[in-house]
Amino acid sequence: MLLKVQEVYKDFSQGGFFSAAKKPILKGVSLELACGECLGLIGESGSGKSTLGRMLIGIEKPDWGEVLFEGRNIYRSPGWRQQPDWRRKISAVFQDYTSSVNPRFRVDKIITEPLYTHRLASGSKAMERAVYLLEKVGLGGDYLKRYPHQLSGGQLQRVCIARALATNPAFILLDEPVSSLDVSVQVQVMDLLDSLKKEFQLSYLFISHDLAAVAYLCDRALFFAEGRIVEAVERIAELGQVKEAYSRKLLYSVLDFSDQLADYRCGREEGSRLA
Ligand SMILES: Nc1ncnc2c1ncn2[C@@H]1O[C@H](COP(=O)(O)OP(=O)(O)O)[C@@H](O)[C@H]1O
Ligand SMILES: [Mg+2]
Repeated sequence: MLLKVQEVYKDFSQGGFFSAAKKPILKGVSLELACGECLGLIGESGSGKSTLGRMLIGIEKPDWGEVLFEGRNIYRSPGWRQQPDWRRKISAVFQDYTSSVNPRFRVDKIITEPLYTHRLASGSKAMERAVYLLEKVGLGGDYLKRYPHQLSGGQLQRVCIARALATNPAFILLDEPVSSLDVSVQVQVMDLLDSLKKEFQLSYLFISHDLAAVAYLCDRALFFAEGRIVEAVERIAELGQVKEAYSRKLLYSVLDFSDQLADYRCGREEGSRLA
């Protein structure tokens, strides 16, 4: 198993720094992710999905419970931050691509930064890798010298995906990666994520409040509500057959959108432009 989460709990303090009041955000969450698998995590805003996501990439320590990556406990292994070969295997792409990048950096610097941080490449080798990665995300070397404000949302998210791939990760946290994009662009970016997953044998945790997107990309899915997994769907084709009241409520709220996505899929087959 690539990633294993065992009974994690997390409380956040409420009412400011000096307040002792605590609000439970994660209430005993367990999950597993195998190599090459895409697991969907579906839940409403505020249910704790991003907190769980941050826990998986090593930046949110659980109050209780374990997070194991390749069998090693990432919060209890001494010096894990100093183990570049291990750390480089975990990457992330977030919803807000604009605040994920430094607006003063050109694309080449955005993509090569993790190569320098992890001491994987520098100079012309790093630049060659940036061109390779830009091609992999459907952009190409022409984009190297652009600034973020000179790119569309879809193009900037592709740059963020290239940066996430730079260190050859095994796992990428995708926290609402298409939620800020137009629906037609969402499908293109999901197709890209799907083909990269196959080409580089990646595992994803795909966080979304959007069932149509989860159905499109994931192998299986978890319904998440108020800090708990309320239902697991082992075969994504059965996403429409969830039983829990909460899962059904979410399902009905997106049925209209599924139709919209189906329309775009048809449009894409007729030949779509890169956005
Ligand atoms: N660092 C933090 N300090 C205090 N509260 C937080 C912190 N991070 C998240 N929260 C709270 O935890 C809850 C869940 O947030 P989040 O994990 O972002 O949910 P989701 O991604 O499902 O929308 C929210 O009520 C949010 O305000
Ligand atoms: Mg979130």
